[in-house]
Amino acid sequence: MRMPRGGRMLLATCLGSLFVLVLYFQTITKPEPGVNTDSRPGKSRRSPLQTLYNGDQQLELLAAQRSLQGRRELLEQACLSHTRKRQVLSPEDLKHLIVDDKHSLIYCYVPKVACTNWKRVMMVLTSDGRYTDPLSIPANEAHVAGNLRTLSEFSVPEINRRLRSYLKFIFVRDPFERLVSAYRNKFTRSYNTAFHRRYGTKIIRRHRPEPDPEEIEKGNNVLFHEFVQYLVDPRTQREEPFNEHWERVHSLCHPCLIHYDVVGKYETLEPDAQAVLRLAGVEGSLQFPTSGKITRTDGNMAARYFKHISPFYQKKLFNLYRMDFLLFNYSTPEYLRT
Ligand SMILES: *[C@@H]1O[C@H](CO)[C@@H](O)[C@H](O)[C@H]1NC(C)=O
Repeated sequence: MRMPRGGRMLLATCLGSLFVLVLYFQTITKPEPGVNTDSRPGKSRRSPLQTLYNGDQQLELLAAQRSLQGRRELLEQACLSHTRKRQVLSPEDLKHLIVDDKHSLIYCYVPKVACTNWKRVMMVLTSDGRYTDPLSIPANEAHVAGNLRTLSEFSVPEINRRLRSYLKFIFVRDPFERLVSAYRNKFTRSYNTAFHRRYGTKIIRRHRPEPDPEEIEKGNNVLFHEFVQYLVDPRTQREEPFNEHWERVHSLCHPCLIHYDVVGKYETLEPDAQAVLRLAGVEGSLQFPTSGKITRTDGNMAARYFKHISPFYQKKLFNLYRMDFLLFNYSTPEYLRT
């Protein structure tokens, strides 16, 4: 017989007493009728959620819808077979879910998966006409907390109402391509001094044999295998949660508790983004900025970086990110030697 883990029980008890728990039932497949009309009198446009589940589809859209449906079903199945039941969310867990009340959308942002552009688009959608072109919004502006509303800001009934009636979408990416992208962006660019100081110094201190004092002080030039050792070191997550750039989608967006209606993929960013904008009823007026975003090296970057990682660490890292592989139908990479 397996014993429950003491730590987890204690944590659950603490959370239970500190937070108002969000009770969110996953039984909805159809939106509530008329949910969209009361807030916007005079408008009878369908909500994106209604369009997705009972829209009068044109034939050319059906193929795209079917593949979205396939991903949804796969996610649901993977959740059933790989997660324990009876988890609850607290509002704190919903900080990555961005809300657009005007178009009834909820987007969970995952860093390194076109999230700057999605935040720009969400700013255009919620701006009441102040912005029309996503690319006119500076990247740093898109990341300012407070420019967009997140689900965690609302009361529990208001959270649940939105979860029931809004179209919820997420964009994911091959977990190791995303990880390598985060590493390159945060540790190999000399301008990213904040990350070097915040994480690089610790990584070098712990995982570089005989570092020199300047390396320890600045945290520059963290090597990929040092970053990997940091990730799989049990101390790391005991001390604090992963930074969002390498935190797993499973932990950022809770895809087994939040019933995402659209699972978009970075590998098919353009058509998937278009599908979301179409469901939101804005595809005529708004285009998702993708040009130049995906370079030719994307899609095989991880293989190059993993060559220098020992099978021992490859296996540990795969276990760490396993849920993201399983939930979003990414197969075990062929370059792994585990
Ligand atoms: C899952 O991945 C496999 C292999 O890449 C693919 O053939 C299949 O269509 C995918 N399934 C879904 C539901 O996306």
